[in-house]
Amino acid sequence: MGKKLLLKNAHIEGIRYFETYRKHGGYEAAEKALKMKPEEILEEVKTSGLRGRGGAGFPTGMKWSFLAKPEGVPRHLVVNADESEPGTFKDRYLMEFLPHLLIEGMLISSYTLGSNTSYIYIRGEYSWIPDILEEAIEEAKAAGFLGKNILGTGYDLEIYVQRGGGAYICGEETALLESLEGRRGNPRLKPPFPAVKGLWERPTVVNNVESIAAVVPIIEIGGAEYAKIGVGRSTGTKLISACGNINKPGVYEIDMTITVEEFIYSDEYCGGIPNGKKLKACIPGGSSVPIVPANLLLKTINGEPRYMNYESLADGGFATGTMMGSGGFIVLDEDQCVVNHTMTLARFYNHESCGQCTPCREGTGWMYKILKKIEKGEGKMEDIDLLWDIQRKIEGNTICPLGDAAAWPVAAAIRHFRDEFEWHVNNPELSQTQNYGIANY
Ligand code: NAI
Ligand code: SF4
Repeated sequence: MGKKLLLKNAHIEGIRYFETYRKHGGYEAAEKALKMKPEEILEEVKTSGLRGRGGAGFPTGMKWSFLAKPEGVPRHLVVNADESEPGTFKDRYLMEFLPHLLIEGMLISSYTLGSNTSYIYIRGEYSWIPDILEEAIEEAKAAGFLGKNILGTGYDLEIYVQRGGGAYICGEETALLESLEGRRGNPRLKPPFPAVKGLWERPTVVNNVESIAAVVPIIEIGGAEYAKIGVGRSTGTKLISACGNINKPGVYEIDMTITVEEFIYSDEYCGGIPNGKKLKACIPGGSSVPIVPANLLLKTINGEPRYMNYESLADGGFATGTMMGSGGFIVLDEDQCVVNHTMTLARFYNHESCGQCTPCREGTGWMYKILKKIEKGEGKMEDIDLLWDIQRKIEGNTICPLGDAAAWPVAAAIRHFRDEFEWHVNNPELSQTQNYGIANY
């Protein structure tokens, strides 16, 4: 049984409510933190080695230490709850079942950063969760953990929940800030990073829901103890939302020392693949990260098996590697068609492109059209090369990472599953009625 820090109390009935949360040790970390100096808390977070859980894995303590502190200018914490990455639903779980863990994490983090007004920006499709969060905020306020002069310390904090309009791009931190300011969610050029010029041009830390929730156990057990969990630079625990062709889809807390094989096949986690089917591939970190074929996931690399952590999943670079990303773990069995899967993703990215940069606006549309043609059995061999060429021209040439996110799945699909693209070209009639997986296994 892996170590549980975030979900240790998730099974307790009523843990969503303040009274039950408090009865099980809730807000004790906040009480401890408010007796510490902000610099001491920052040191604990740095020592913990916590890396951003939204997808980029940037060290949280380092991000906090970049926060500019010009005299007389308010600073803000903004929690990115715009969890829209296909396959990713772990923040939803945290907010729905453990809202006070997020509020407590925000209290500790806001105090550390010197924010008196902090925000949760939540994706529009999570329509029932803002009410849960707002109820938790009211409960915390009534108990003296939010509002004016919290626990008699002189520190004030208000937290507001802002509902997004349902655009994937608003999960990109600068687009999120634009949207929070009331404008269209178009990403800004970085630098300047939000830590210097963020919400209303004020210094702002934007952190993922899980990153902020993780601050609570870091304060509870101390940064050094937290850093002992996991391995290398993958410290602490990580929430994984598992879906696709597995027996037990759901949200799991892992300590990043388990292998990919164990995660897929053990009963503690995904419980294997239904109907005894073979594993074809995984997308381990949400749809934006490269797809990896089963042979590269299950075999050892440099004498080591693949582990569920930042370093091991990236081992081999883009040739064989992928990314931990947001922790949205998507499993494809032998019946699935990679061309069909890639086309579905291309349609998604094309639909969600904000349209500011030509390579992304035009390229995502071209990729979708070509993939649709190939998938329907109307493609030519040259189309596969054209697809490769287009994705290369998008990668690295756009304002925000949506361009890369659209390009990488296409690149990895062609790199590892070119035979499936060629099968569609060579079997136009079969392509109309069947997919590659069904026809070939
Ligand atoms: P990034 O690497 O540009 O930035 C990471 C964080 O570090 C940002 O908050 C940035 O402001 C900060 N940062 C980096 N360098 C800095 C510096 N020199 N000074 C101050 N701050 C600095 O990555 P980004 O754009 O935040 O995230 C991309 C990732 O998001 C993708 O890899 C993908 O996995 C993930 N993603 C997650 C989604 C979800 O629903 N959870 C949706 C879409 C993408
Ligand atoms: Fe918009 Fe795409 Fe450019 Fe990002 S890469 S700013 S989504 S056009």
